[in-house]
Amino acid sequence: MARELSQVGVVGLGTMGAGITEVLARAGLDVTAVEVSDEALDRGRAHLEQSTGKAVERGKLEAADRDEILARVRWSTSLDDLAQAELVVEAIPERMELKTEVFAALDKICPPDTILATNTSSLSVTELSVATGRPSKVIGMHFFNPAPVMKLVEVISTVVTEPSVIEDVEALAARLGKTDVTVGDKAGFIANALLFGYLNHAVSMYENKYASREDIDAAMRLGCGLPMGPLALMDLIGVDTAYEILDTMYKQSRDRLHAPSPIIKQLMTAGLLGRKTGRGFYSYAGRDSAEVV
Ligand code: 3HC
Repeated sequence: MARELSQVGVVGLGTMGAGITEVLARAGLDVTAVEVSDEALDRGRAHLEQSTGKAVERGKLEAADRDEILARVRWSTSLDDLAQAELVVEAIPERMELKTEVFAALDKICPPDTILATNTSSLSVTELSVATGRPSKVIGMHFFNPAPVMKLVEVISTVVTEPSVIEDVEALAARLGKTDVTVGDKAGFIANALLFGYLNHAVSMYENKYASREDIDAAMRLGCGLPMGPLALMDLIGVDTAYEILDTMYKQSRDRLHAPSPIIKQLMTAGLLGRKTGRGFYSYAGRDSAEVV
């Protein structure tokens, strides 16, 4: 019988971490949300306030329910505040050295039966698990962007994950209104392993001036019925995140399909990271877009 988790933590409040915080709080869980600095914490809080505020404006959420959701989140800059958490979801940047540091710290702070989950998109969950003294309680819980909207959670189990931990996380995913799929620990899991070759190919078509970004996106929206074209989706995911995912998959498989197209790195270096910076393949702030010339 799965445990009913009620106290959870989220570490890292970027686009995904803030979205995951919203999903957990909306499902009635008490969430401790942790970031490294007050500024980053404020950005995470603003994200939650804005997203739930919009839901109230659109008549999708009662104002009183919004207040309850906001009251369920405790904001902190210290991992020590996760000492009571039954499950922690880590959603910090995709850098193994940073993640192993956080997992090793959480292992010391959290009770021995706390589940330590990572929202990694492509890094090895097994490698993260051995940074702790509880590899059997470490699991992947991979949400999709925007987390409050996308219905899937990939549950990544390693060769040492305890079956009861998988059950607990699957039960939680159901409470969050998500459908879970279970997958082994291979870079990209299911969805990203299939999606990112396609996105990278679309970027290279654009980079080689084979077609305009608008036409590439229109072809996939209108011809294939996807909600968004690939270049708009790159901007939603974040150009930097997309680069990290492709690079990790390429290093693991050496499959040229995943060798990041050069323009992705160029946009990253120029700080054009997509929606979150107001500009990526497209412009979102009235400025010129990063059109290939
Ligand atoms: N947060 C919360 N809710 C949001 C949101 C956000 N960031 N963005 C959109 N929504 C909600 C809207 O409020 C609206 O809700 P309602 O129907 O209850 O009013 C609903 O989503 C639809 O939004 P819009 O009408 O504004 O716009 P669209 O119909 O165009 O939908 C979209 C926007 C949901 C983003 C849709 O275009 C879509 O599904 N795009 C594809 C997204 C995708 O493929 N994500 C996966 C990326 S890969 C990934 O995340 C893996 C990771 O490892 C990188």
